[in-house]
Amino acid sequence: MRAVLVRQPGGPDALEVVELPVPVPGAGQVQIRAEAFGVGQPDVLIRRGVYKWMPPLPANPGNDVAGRISALGSGVEGLALGQKVLLSARDLSQRGGCYADYVVAPADAVHALPDHVELQAAVCLSNYQVAYALLHECRHPRAPASALVIGAAGGVGTALVQLAKLAGMTVIGTVSTEEKAAFTRANGADHVIFYRSEDVVARTRELTDGEGVGLVLDHVCGPEFTSYLGALGKWGTLLSYNAFAGLPEENLMAAMRDHLDICPAIRCFSFHIYDHDRDGRRALMRSVIEALSRNAIKPAISAVLKLDEVRKAHTLLEQGSALGKIIMIP
Ligand SMILES: NC(=O)c1ccc[n+]([C@@H]2O[C@H](COP(=O)([O-])OP(=O)(O)OC[C@H]3O[C@@H](n4cnc5c(N)ncnc54)[C@H](OP(=O)(O)O)[C@@H]3O)[C@@H](O)[C@H]2O)c1
Repeated sequence: MRAVLVRQPGGPDALEVVELPVPVPGAGQVQIRAEAFGVGQPDVLIRRGVYKWMPPLPANPGNDVAGRISALGSGVEGLALGQKVLLSARDLSQRGGCYADYVVAPADAVHALPDHVELQAAVCLSNYQVAYALLHECRHPRAPASALVIGAAGGVGTALVQLAKLAGMTVIGTVSTEEKAAFTRANGADHVIFYRSEDVVARTRELTDGEGVGLVLDHVCGPEFTSYLGALGKWGTLLSYNAFAGLPEENLMAAMRDHLDICPAIRCFSFHIYDHDRDGRRALMRSVIEALSRNAIKPAISAVLKLDEVRKAHTLLEQGSALGKIIMIP
């Protein structure tokens, strides 16, 4: 079978498609015949060798696979051959391991999927799992009525927009281009802001009749981050889930004290908070599988490439031009 390995971390050329023996499931394990692979930022970080939760080299950098059970180890109950399943490396003892024609995993790590669920849609769900946690676990207990999603056309951004709409929020998304604006509106956002040419904070306040939003969801950080406090309404939370553009230079405490009238909060999120909370992370995934199975969400797939095109898939992801999620098929 084919698998993708990184021996020497680096750019997309570090990804090698190699031939390996098909893995055999041991006791309590299942073998999955892959039909779809997610391509995401953690895969890129593993490829570059800079992931904080780096698997040992040579590493298979894939973190999401969907397929069907193709063999069962001894003692596995409740899963049958042919069953559609989703596997996220978040449920494995180490990240990575999912870019391969066949993947073996503990039976209790996989999520069984209803047969009518499309595997290409299911493999996008790890973004929804993150988005669900961001929207429902990280904010003030008083549910926000509105959210500002920075980078709303990306993989996590599209999931945030859909799940925030499902939760009844007014959603504003920031985008860089007209194409991304049209896509983000079609994905359900009520308003878009062109962050390169418009003042994001002033526009957010205008669009919310001066109230501000309950939640700002940001993965960019950098010089703009502190200013987003000005887009928040009462009890609002500025939620950071990565720092693409580096850390802010301002004194955050001083900046928050400039907005004492709204009692703002800043929270830093990483999905690794669930590393030792199996029930918590699986409940999140079940919520989004359930939403997908009743068609309440529709993952946006921007490109479907072949596993052999894994270098191209990573190049596309790093260009930042994708509308939604990039996936691969065998
Ligand atoms: N904390 C966690 O547990 C966790 C889990 C999963 C993902 N993440 C993080 O979530 C982030 C998004 O991942 P993804 O897979 O959705 O990536 P993606 O598909 O590449 O989307 C990123 C989006 O960010 C926007 N963007 C880039 N630079 C920007 C800037 N300077 N200002 C505003 N927007 C900018 C881009 O749109 P524009 O062209 O419109 O700017 C792009 O659509 C990554 O940083 C990833 O590491 C965190």
